Amino acid sequence: MKVVKAGDREILLIKLESGIYALDNFCTHGGCRLGYGKLEGETIRCLCHGSVFHVKTGEVLDGLATKPQPTYTVILKDGQITLTL
Ligand code: FES
Repeated sequence: MKVVKAGDREILLIKLESGIYALDNFCTHGGCRLGYGKLEGETIRCLCHGSVFHVKTGEVLDGLATKPQPTYTVILKDGQITLTL
């Protein structure tokens, strides 16, 4: 996992076997940084209150969060990552 800045946003990049995925770094529940979270397979668990999001879709799978985590399209070309925000 790696956090990058895009303008005033923080984006969490996560590399899985199936590719690289991008989510907003601030948890939709209470704003904690998901970059400090725990990656568990294709899910990430926020360490503040335990909400679990699917890395590929941002879907809430468990916990207190009620809104999905925003995700962004990742385009890999010539070794460079481009995000569609
Ligand atoms: S801030 Fe992430 S679960 Fe509450």
